[in-house]
Amino acid sequence: MKPYIYLTRKLPEEAYQKLVGRFDVHMWEREDQAVPHDVLLSQAAKADALLTVVSDPVTQEVFEAGKRLKVVANMAVGYDNIHVDAATEKGVYVCNTPDVLTETTADLTFALLLAAARRVVEAAEFIKDGKWQSWSPFLLAGHDVHHKTIGIAGMGGIGEAVARRAKGFGMEILYHNRSRKPDAEEALGAQYCSFDELVERSDFLVAMTPLTPDTKHLFNADVFKKMKSSAIFINASRGAVADEAALAEALKNREIAGAGLDVFAEEPISADHPLLALENVTALPHIGSATMETRIKMIEICVDNIERVLTGQKPKTLVNTILLEP
Ligand code: GLV
Ligand code: GLV
Repeated sequence: MKPYIYLTRKLPEEAYQKLVGRFDVHMWEREDQAVPHDVLLSQAAKADALLTVVSDPVTQEVFEAGKRLKVVANMAVGYDNIHVDAATEKGVYVCNTPDVLTETTADLTFALLLAAARRVVEAAEFIKDGKWQSWSPFLLAGHDVHHKTIGIAGMGGIGEAVARRAKGFGMEILYHNRSRKPDAEEALGAQYCSFDELVERSDFLVAMTPLTPDTKHLFNADVFKKMKSSAIFINASRGAVADEAALAEALKNREIAGAGLDVFAEEPISADHPLLALENVTALPHIGSATMETRIKMIEICVDNIERVLTGQKPKTLVNTILLEP
């Protein structure tokens, strides 16, 4: 029997061509809708490999059902949607797609920062809604980005790529991270500081941390109170690193000036969510890595990892590397 592969989203056949014929490939038939969890469970029970996306909760149950499961290739750098401990316990490889999306995600993060500061989305809606009466001195006046202070919380690859863009804008660059980044300090003049100092000094506070038990609600009511009232909060990592109720309050009460959000605790966020009703929120539907070039590369990495595992080779971008230790 050929190994059974289940893709949780409809993908164009050329994207997984090299699996066709050698493996028994099945997929959820919708591109725009998540696979229901019961379908994922019944497919996992048959599958040797799963190709998953960020919105699929790959729970302990999935690994319990997946008696033949050998690899889960997640089309994302983040893997907070996967119960990695359960995978490791069952000896299932979990793979992600690091590196290929770093510059792309940094571009979007900076686009979001610029859009939030300069009210780009609001201005675009304004003109298309036919509201433009005349040039006026403070029409849609926002905040400067150049020469302001950016504070990056989480200086991984994407954080550094954001810092490089900030340098081009003449910004003062602060960062906080578990470990110091001497290269970024030297090349970009980035200054390491404590989390509190980062929060207090930043004009743009950018969340770039993965979601873990330690970072859940890291950006809470206290943080928003400590921020400058002119500051803008940017999040392109995971929604749950911020306490959204506290964020909505802080924005409503003008404790902070604005927010640019590409991610939400629940995705898709419901259209009547309080955050979406605020005029000082620029919201995007989790498109950080969404370019044709990068999404194709991410799929290729997933496909490659699946092929490697199913042909007895080591996966290339393994999350639970402990499985390869002797
Ligand atoms: C997307 O959010 C990712 O983690 O790649
Ligand atoms: C504005 O468009 C200006 O010319 O200052």
